Amino acid sequence: MPKKNFYGLLEKEIERIDESRTSKRDEKVISGFTPEKRAIIGGKPYLIFNSNDYLGLRHHPTVKKAETEASETYGAGPGAVRFISGTMQIHKDLEGTAADFHGREDAMAFSSAFAANLAVLHCILKGQSRTSLIDKDVLVISDELNHRSIIDGIRVAGLDKPNKAIHKHMDYGDLERVLEENAGKFKRALIVSDGIFSMLGECGDVGKIQAAADKYDDKYEEGIITVIDDSHGVGCFGATGRGCEEATNGKCDVILATFGKGFGSDGGYIAGDKTMIDYLRESAATYIYSNPISPGTAGAANASMKIVDSPEGKELLSKLNSNIEYFKNKMKETGFVFAVESDHAIQPILIGDAAKSRALTDGLFEEGILVTNISFPVVQRGRDEIRVQISAAHSKEDIDEFVEKATRCAKEAGVL
Ligand SMILES: Cc1ncc(COP(=O)(O)O)c(C=O)c1O
Repeated sequence: MPKKNFYGLLEKEIERIDESRTSKRDEKVISGFTPEKRAIIGGKPYLIFNSNDYLGLRHHPTVKKAETEASETYGAGPGAVRFISGTMQIHKDLEGTAADFHGREDAMAFSSAFAANLAVLHCILKGQSRTSLIDKDVLVISDELNHRSIIDGIRVAGLDKPNKAIHKHMDYGDLERVLEENAGKFKRALIVSDGIFSMLGECGDVGKIQAAADKYDDKYEEGIITVIDDSHGVGCFGATGRGCEEATNGKCDVILATFGKGFGSDGGYIAGDKTMIDYLRESAATYIYSNPISPGTAGAANASMKIVDSPEGKELLSKLNSNIEYFKNKMKETGFVFAVESDHAIQPILIGDAAKSRALTDGLFEEGILVTNISFPVVQRGRDEIRVQISAAHSKEDIDEFVEKATRCAKEAGVL
């Protein structure tokens, strides 16, 4: 059967990935949590330093109660896509909460931030159909280290050079150079960037991005739209958890994020002007033709957002920031070096060697600690790192335990 030939190709591809030691499918399976919220894997408890649950909200009793109540009221699943019969009041409540949280006219929930990027980029860049008013005489400008969902969103829109330009990472002079060079050549431009960059925890400067867009706006017939994906920043970064917009004093046209990291729930969303959201509700395929998040998840996300905006949320944010400072100081005292100086919960420890960073992660796993090593091609060769993710749910003792064990394992691995 010729089909066997195709399966043969798949097997070869799997072998190639296994040999390059970049395989991801051998996932660690968590069977439950201890009362202290250590993950249980193979019957053994693990302290988690590689989760995006930056405020510890996934185990919050109010969030879990809201999830259960929404499931009781609306059922476990939405039953249909939004425009058929899948829109529940809890989806509308959540969208109202998200719009208010970001100070925008409206918001729209997606099944994930990945799905939101695919839809938003495709619809703003190309329009929904050949008959659409929105044509493709457009330039997209993307930071060179943007997340995979942004890269794929641009791919789905089918844009490549000369309609696609990449600017140097967080180099807003380079962004202006691209805008200047292309002025008059395209009807409109779209600038898209991560807020917090997930590998190093750097904060994209929304203030500078928006200033560049404003400066060149009238050089493009239909202007310049800015889209910021602050999936890692929203909820847990900035004075009140509004993420990079708040930290850099900027406001983009479309803010995009996930409920699945700082908010401890799941699903993605965007917030922006009513016209933009109305247009996207009419055109975004991953919104129109794919189920929304389940009512329970919407209930949980809604409760999380409200907690972030409450006095308790401020306390969680302050605990997170004090944990980050404590961690950084202890690691530096011990002799570890950071790949960049990050104020975010993502703390990249520079190891500089793929085998050593793997040995360190494996050693820590043996010691009951979950942490992730990141190597080429995700980071440049020689910039291999251990990506540590701090949470408000960590105690100082948890951080002491991490530092003590990391120091021991790093010495064994020849890192320190
Ligand atoms: C910048 C960015 N966008 C989108 C996503 C995907 O989020 P979700 O899991 O909601 O699809 C991530 C998560 O890795 C991310 O870091």
